[in-house]
Amino acid sequence: MGITKICCIGAGYVGGPTMAVIAQKCPQIQVTVVDLNEERIAAWNDEDVNKIPIYEPGLSDIVKEARGRNLFFSTDVEKAIDEAQMIFISVNTPTKTYGKGKGMAADLKFIELCARQIAKVAKENKIVVEKSTLPVRTAEAIKSILDNTGNGVKFQILSNPEFLAEGTAVQDLLNPDRILIGGDTTEEGQKAIQALVDVYANWVSEDKILTTNVWSSELSKLTANAFLAQRISSINAMSELCEKTGADVNEVARAIGMDSRIGPKFLKASVGFGGSCFQKDILNLVYIAKSYGLNEVADYWEQVIIMNDHQKRRFSNNIVKTLYNTVSDKKITFLGWAFKKDTNDTRESAAIYVADDLISENAKIAVYDPKVSRKKVLADLDYLESRAADENVNSVLSFENPYEACAGAHAIAVLTEWDEFVAYDWQKIYDSMQKPAFVFDGRNILNGSDLEKIGFVYQAIGS
Ligand code: UDX
Ligand code: UDX
Repeated sequence: MGITKICCIGAGYVGGPTMAVIAQKCPQIQVTVVDLNEERIAAWNDEDVNKIPIYEPGLSDIVKEARGRNLFFSTDVEKAIDEAQMIFISVNTPTKTYGKGKGMAADLKFIELCARQIAKVAKENKIVVEKSTLPVRTAEAIKSILDNTGNGVKFQILSNPEFLAEGTAVQDLLNPDRILIGGDTTEEGQKAIQALVDVYANWVSEDKILTTNVWSSELSKLTANAFLAQRISSINAMSELCEKTGADVNEVARAIGMDSRIGPKFLKASVGFGGSCFQKDILNLVYIAKSYGLNEVADYWEQVIIMNDHQKRRFSNNIVKTLYNTVSDKKITFLGWAFKKDTNDTRESAAIYVADDLISENAKIAVYDPKVSRKKVLADLDYLESRAADENVNSVLSFENPYEACAGAHAIAVLTEWDEFVAYDWQKIYDSMQKPAFVFDGRNILNGSDLEKIGFVYQAIGS
């Protein structure tokens, strides 16, 4: 029997868009997304689809089409679990901030809570799908909780990691490179895998749907993110060498990217990668390796994070050094705060760390980001606990308009690669700034020689 009712716990960046696309592509399946956060669910249900809590190009149209038809957002977690044959767990798994594995291991408390709640409510057999990125062998823990605390019903656990990238989530979901589904090798396990394959087969060709055992699927997700992040740290390591030797990192990236064995993607030098996944997943990998005594493996991957932290610090140090070793009371304008373009997500954004360093040097940071509010900027800085909240309030100036943000500034730092930055009237910006006017391009998106012609002192990463 095919699946007709799906529930997803967690209406975040992963759960929301993924379920919206499943609902759009499978009108015969009722999809209910639940979350403990009432405000978030209310926003998903907002009559104005432009007010849904996650900004992703194309998402509001899909929500508009499916919401109320077969896509529902609710805080009634138990009812949704009870009704569904298949339950996706898409809650967050942050890095632990306490106890054993602090700063490294994934905190699984939300996952465990979900498992216990499913066990309590379920009166019929169910398929539970891990969507959140999890340490290898988490499925085993979930199964143990379900089997030992449940009402005697049978559960199948599948791992179905999400590979969508923010900003392109809808496209990634509609045209995925592959769908990965891990499950038990038993007959019931294979049946559960097939039930999920049948859901995706509504819009993804079957040759792109890969099935494996649960452990391979769990580890593949961590491995994919580690490899992607490693490419960025590798090119960023070369960017520092380029600056010393007169090579240009964009030219080097192009030259190596044309080698079909290397390929051109994920070779853009930058102020450092951000986002909720790369750092968290690598730390998690490092922790797992260490817990098996594989110290060389752990050290190897940890270096990817060390390099990324170094790149962020190097960027802020360079700003201070170039501005005559003092930024005290100088206005420095940040173009961009999100961790990448086309998203309002700021988790682990390089901008936060660069701003934190500069505020410690008494700079005034003027922030303009087309999708990020002042409230979010301040919350991100407060979270680091580097200073009292009112000091952050006094150090951060926010603007609705980029030209006002840049007026009177000593320097501009480009922290996010928003397309609109390239199209600005840079002559007008130059005229309004303190001289010499500096641009530190942390994303290598602006045309340096054009800016230099205007009179800017222009510095990009790795050139
Ligand atoms: C998260 C993880 O960050 C990622 O590693 C994983 O692959 C998928 O889940 P994301 O969707 O971006 O990704 O997280 P977030 O936007 O924080 O959404 C999680 C949602 O779960 C939140 O809205 C939170 O309120 C909700 N939640 C959390 C519950 O409904 N119940 C809980 O017990 C815990
Ligand atoms: C990533 C993975 O790509 C995705 O498959 C997984 O499901 C979640 O984690 P995401 O974090 O949304 O997705 O964005 P991604 O496009 O991978 O970018 C991550 C960070 O790397 C961003 O800060 C981005 O600016 C940076 N980056 C990316 C670079 O600095 N250089 C590059 O060449 C590519």
